[in-house]
Order: sequence, then structure tokens, then C-alpha cells
Amino acid sequence: MQKRTIKDIDVNGKRVFVRVDFNVPVKDGVVTDDTRIRAAIPTIRDLAGRGAKVILASHLGRPLKEKKKAEEAGKEFDAAKFSLAPVFARFNELVEGIEEIRETRFAVNCVGAEVSEAVNALGEGDVLLLENLRLHPGEEKNDPEFAKRLAALCDIYVNDAFGTAHRAHASTEGITHFVDTCVAGLLMEKELDYLGRVLGSPERPFVAILGGAKVSDKIPVIDSLIERKVDKLLIGGAMAYTFFKANGYTIGKSLVENDMLDRAKEIEARANSAGVELLLPTDHQVVDSVDPLNSQKTIPIDFTNAGHVGLDIGIETAAIFANALKGAKTLVWNGPMGMFEEKPFDQGTIAVAKAVAEATDNGAVSIVGGGDSVAAIKQARLEDHISHISTGGGATLEFLAGDVLPGVAALNDKNEAVV
Ligand code: 3PG
Repeated sequence: MQKRTIKDIDVNGKRVFVRVDFNVPVKDGVVTDDTRIRAAIPTIRDLAGRGAKVILASHLGRPLKEKKKAEEAGKEFDAAKFSLAPVFARFNELVEGIEEIRETRFAVNCVGAEVSEAVNALGEGDVLLLENLRLHPGEEKNDPEFAKRLAALCDIYVNDAFGTAHRAHASTEGITHFVDTCVAGLLMEKELDYLGRVLGSPERPFVAILGGAKVSDKIPVIDSLIERKVDKLLIGGAMAYTFFKANGYTIGKSLVENDMLDRAKEIEARANSAGVELLLPTDHQVVDSVDPLNSQKTIPIDFTNAGHVGLDIGIETAAIFANALKGAKTLVWNGPMGMFEEKPFDQGTIAVAKAVAEATDNGAVSIVGGGDSVAAIKQARLEDHISHISTGGGATLEFLAGDVLPGVAALNDKNEAVV
């Protein structure tokens, strides 16, 4: 880890601003997946235990985009939908009984006189969660004035929001220009350590599994993996149909990106010349109609007719993919193998989740990222059989593509003088 972390600094009695990623799903005022909240607790606990006055800040959703949409449609914008209050309620439940964390409070804003007062009232070990940063336009614009106001709340800045580290926003990048001590939290450190192994010298065989709807979303990652000479690249999900069409197969009414056909051919050629084994599905589950869903059957890829819609990999492919993971020492998986949200088209993704877990039990280091892949691991109750479940979606993909994440770049380097 090239960056300083909270382990390198003294925080006793200091006001510590911790950027967390509490952008979690909320339904009817209740958090439906608290993974990201849980993942931030080790950092908060450590800081509180060492006498810090902890200020937590996060975004939730994209309220300004919603506001614009509502205005254009002549509807009223419901700001309450974007409040972090439900997150605060869940956070309180999760930290109950943690003795390092003394009192917890919620601020109705993230800047302003009331917030400054609430910060001034913090004692050592207390935690204050600020209201959604994105309710202020300055956050996403990375407005220096807004960043300065956030910076004025603290002595030390900690970024533990790996999931948002690919955004150069006021609370992830701008603020670091106004605070001397800017370090990584424990979650950020863990994410960078695991994902860094993939980009550094992964133990081999190194296998990557990619899925999801679009090749275009994954191109930078595919390029980066081929460049790093991943031993095997397994491609499932709707993105496989772009490869099939590029190779002249009938794909019926399956999802395809027609403007990516040449790119798909090029990827195959590059993988071939780099000695990367590229595996595509050999069979798939198709239906004759999506709405209503009917006539589901599993057929070989080359049996597809013009009316078919492919919605998942088939049993044979699941077995071939599972076999390809055997003996792997490093595994990365991002993206579902099919229409995961609709049963029985979750089967391929669940089969891959099981195979990744088994390979991990047999000695592989596995890293899983992306909403549906992580959901499949959880649905199959395999969390304890995966080395690292990333809290990042877009951030994981950008990191694996070799991009510099602005929220990480902005932190103090290890060798920088301690202020
Ligand atoms: C995420 O969920 O990927 C992060 O919280 C970033 O959210 P964003 O895509 O709205 O910036």
C-alpha cells in the first residue's frame, strides 16, 4: 500500500472526517442491503477507540439528477427519499454494543452553522453522520468552495469509500486540497490490497470471469486483463452474444451491441496472440418470448433460431466454466451469467458462484465485485468462501482497468511527511 492509512496517524482528540460509501439500497425507509455499512465499521471503531471525534459523510443515490427529471416532468421532487436517516437507523443497530463507539448523532445537513455546532459538541469516541452530500450541487461539481466548507469541519481526512473512489467529487478529491492529513481507511486499504494483487503479480493460474449485458462496459477491463496475460478469460452473460454475432452465429433476439462486433473480433484476436484462453458459452437457456416469459429450454449455441432470446448460460457451459476454475490461484469475477434477477435464469450465475467458492476452498485467492455477482454469492450463502467481496461496482472495474482512482490518488503517500 503506497498510501498512508489511519494506522500511520495519531487521531486522539482530533476531528476526523471519514468519507464512507453508504450508498445502499433503501426501500420504504428501510436499508435492504447493509454490506457497505458493515464494511465501514472497522475503521469507525478503530478511530473512535483511539479517541477521535468521528464525522461520517456519504452520498445516497443521485438526487440532483432525480430533481432535474422531476422538474422536467412537472412533478414535485421528493428530497426525503434521498435522506441518510434510514442509513443512520441501520448504522445504530449495527454498532450497538460496540463500546469504542460512544454516542451517535445525525446532522440534518452536511455543512452550515448547525453542522459546525454539532461537530463542536462531539466528544472523543462520538460519531456524527452528516446528511447526504449530494443534496448540495457543489459535491458532484467538485466545487472548491463546498470542499473548503467540508474541510473546515475537520483536522484529519480519511477516505474509506472505495466504492466512490472513481469519482472526483468535493468529498473524495476536492477536500484533500484543504486538509493536510489525508489517509486511507481500513476498508479502502483492504480493497486496494486485494485488487492490487490482480494488477501486480497475481499467482497463476490467473482466471477472470466476466459477465453482464454489455461488452462496451467491460472493454477497458478486458484490455487490461489481456495485457496482464490472464491465463483464462471466461465470458458469459448477454455480452457473449456480441461475440457470437461477430462470429456469424444466429443469436435470435438476444441482446447484442452491433457497434461492438469488430471490437469483439479484435478482442478474440488479441487474446489469441497473447496466449489467453478465451472461453465463451457452448450452450444457453433460451425462451421464445420475454414478455410473457415462455418455452424455456437449454440448447447448444449453434441451435439458436431467429425467434430465440438467450437469458442464461446452459448446464454444459456451467460445467465447463467450473472446470476451468479448477487449480486457479487467482480469480476475479465481475458480472452475472444471465438474467439473474429472474428465476430460473439465475442458475448459471449461482453455478459460477459455487465454482468460485470451491476454487477458493482449494487455495485460490478470489475477488468478486459487481452487484449481481455479489448477490449470487449471498443468495448461495457463500460469503465465507470468497477471499474478498468488493464493495465497489464502477470503482472496481475502473481499478481493474488500470485507471488511477482520483479518491485514492489524492491521499498522502506513505513517504510524505506526517503533519
Ligand atoms: C456506487 O454505488 O457505485 C457508488 O456509490 C458510486 O455511486 P455513483 O455511481 O452514483 O457515483
